[in-house]
Amino acid sequence: MSRMVCVVTGSSSGIGAACARKFAAGGYDVAINFSRAATPAEAVARECAALGAQTLVTKADVANDEDCRRFAGEVAARWGRCDVLVNNAGRTKFVDMKNLEGLSAEDFHSIYAVNVIGAFQMVRAFHSLLTANPGGNVVNVSSIAGVIGMGSSIAYAASKGALNNMTLTLARALGPDLRVNAVAPGMVDGEWLRKGLGTERFEALRQAYESRAALASIVTPDDVARTIFFLGSGATKSTGEVVVVDGGMRIGKA
Ligand SMILES: NC(=O)c1ccc[n+]([C@@H]2O[C@H](COP(=O)([O-])OP(=O)(O)OC[C@H]3O[C@@H](n4cnc5c(N)ncnc54)[C@H](OP(=O)(O)O)[C@@H]3O)[C@@H](O)[C@H]2O)c1
Repeated sequence: MSRMVCVVTGSSSGIGAACARKFAAGGYDVAINFSRAATPAEAVARECAALGAQTLVTKADVANDEDCRRFAGEVAARWGRCDVLVNNAGRTKFVDMKNLEGLSAEDFHSIYAVNVIGAFQMVRAFHSLLTANPGGNVVNVSSIAGVIGMGSSIAYAASKGALNNMTLTLARALGPDLRVNAVAPGMVDGEWLRKGLGTERFEALRQAYESRAALASIVTPDDVARTIFFLGSGATKSTGEVVVVDGGMRIGKA
């Protein structure tokens, strides 16, 4: 029997890269994806190969439907199957929530194009591969922003709220052949926030977060990847769920 295959969008860094390594270590072959810089994606592919996986590295912008369909064609030609699709590629603009003039319609369109439409287009492009074998499923990488309405900007939080809702509608529409779930990470230690906020604001936010969270910790990409792996490979009777991975920030301390 051929090995199972996991496709991870936006897997050249951060959560996506951790996820590719986790599935590689768990016995899957992995397709690694990026939209701009090939070198980090190729480095992730080498790490996955060292863990025993066959790899494919594909440049594709998930906001572009032709790219999504070409990506699915490449996976079909290489392995003829896709067991887990992780819609991880995401985009934001850091704008204070009170600064309404700081967000344009174009900002909303470009954020939704990746975070919502991109995820939908990937599911559509990979649907026949995902249903070719029993157990196929999708894990969308959402955000705590879409649950509690806080985060890098109103457009970003709204897009992740839409992704949470789409997780539910797709789970209903595509069952019983496919499961569709999401993870909603809290504050993750990585380039996304370090670059977006700058070091000083990142450290201040980390301290505030850790003083509030029940588990007194921000989250690592590996923490998120473990939950994605569970949903993708083990949670066979869960669908339409949005699993928060936030170190207990949402519930807070007693
Ligand atoms: N970091 C956090 O605190 C946090 C918290 C909650 C949720 N999340 C979510 O987690 C996901 C990953 O975030 P991260 O922190 O791991 O970010 P990251 O380190 O910046 O990684 C983003 C990845 O996505 C790729 N990418 C960006 N736009 C793309 C597109 N249109 N098509 C295909 N690939 C694209 C990037 O590569 P290229 O630049 O080469 O395209 C990169 O591989 C996002 O959906 C984000 O919303 C992050």
